[in-house]
Amino acid sequence: MGLTIAVTRERREGETRCAVTPDTVKALIKLGAVVTVEAGTGAGSYIPDADYAAAGATVAADTRSTLEGADIVLKVRGPTAQETSALKPGAIVLAMLDAYREKETVQALSGANVTAFAMEFVPRITRAQVMDVLSSQANLAGYRAVIEAAAAYGKGFPMMMTAAGTVAPAKVFVMGVGVAGLQAIATARRLGAVVSATDVRPATKEQVESLGAKFLAVEDDEFKNAQTAGGYAKPMSPEYQAKQAVLTGEHIRKQDIVITTALIPGRAAPVLITADQVATMKPGSVIVDLAIENGGNVEGGRLNEVVTTPNGVQIVGHANLPGRIAADASALYARNLSAFVGLLIRDGVLALDLEDEILKAAVVTHGGAVVHEGVRG
Ligand code: NAI
Repeated sequence: MGLTIAVTRERREGETRCAVTPDTVKALIKLGAVVTVEAGTGAGSYIPDADYAAAGATVAADTRSTLEGADIVLKVRGPTAQETSALKPGAIVLAMLDAYREKETVQALSGANVTAFAMEFVPRITRAQVMDVLSSQANLAGYRAVIEAAAAYGKGFPMMMTAAGTVAPAKVFVMGVGVAGLQAIATARRLGAVVSATDVRPATKEQVESLGAKFLAVEDDEFKNAQTAGGYAKPMSPEYQAKQAVLTGEHIRKQDIVITTALIPGRAAPVLITADQVATMKPGSVIVDLAIENGGNVEGGRLNEVVTTPNGVQIVGHANLPGRIAADASALYARNLSAFVGLLIRDGVLALDLEDEILKAAVVTHGGAVVHEGVRG
């Protein structure tokens, strides 16, 4: 039998996305693979088993029979211990492993002699754009954050002039203008809000302004050097953070909606809004914290909860915002994966070139060892 690619149903709590769509089944078959999909894989994304079958996949009844003999396994999250135990030695796993934090999963994959790639480690180079899961998912998370905010907010976003009076537009402040923040700005603008945004990377200023939002930041020397060569933010000094808190604190007080997205790779998220600042906001204001899974940007926020503070501010802490727009998130993620699989196969057979820049950056376990420096260290 030829090369086999297996996709199992996600087992992690709250994970609604899936790693394959009928479209990508077809793309994988074109690469020369036989595709097996576990029954129910697409349920959270409204993809019936019959659609996978129609695209050419075999639908298997359970995890074990899906994974049996698989050469490549596609997942959204890292495989469970049970899934890993069903893998054959030398199998390849692609997933958003969250490898810095999910140490146990990484150890299990290494112990099972599996070659595991963390999709979150795919480098952000031009050739890998089509495989960039951080961007595909963050973009949807930014959109969804605004939708969550609008739903929780007891007033409208756009200005409306009616016979019965005028509705004022909502004031939205986006903190952290990476991929998610940019989409949050664009979405809030489309809904008619008055939008402002902040970041520590100078390159964001022009991006914010080109979306029709106002840019606000402490633009000192530290700010001018806050971007790493990789395009990410550096952790800022306590002095900078103090200046930032004064500037943004004054602004936050007047906002209706605040969306926070600030992250620093491999570290806990920076606290951008203190409990004291939350206490200055008007009742009915809404904060959506996209960084909540990394410790949160907002004091008082709690993972998977909507906290209402004594002064009537809601802090929305949903985990996995892309999973709340699962059908689109799955479609884009599955395409990221099928593009990555394209790097692993030549003429219908496995051709693993770990010297390829993209594979080299993303491989976490191989040959019974944890081979990624950042994860091992
Ligand atoms: P991220 O998710 O790591 O962080 C989100 C944002 O938080 C960033 O803009 C960061 O500067 C900001 N931030 C961090 N600390 C902060 C603080 N104390 N106060 C305010 N803001 C703070 O970022 P993401 O979305 O992953 O994007 C990172 C970079 O990668 C960007 O430069 C983006 O343009 C670039 N990128 C490049 C791609 C490519 O060339 N293929 C694709 C996607 C993104």
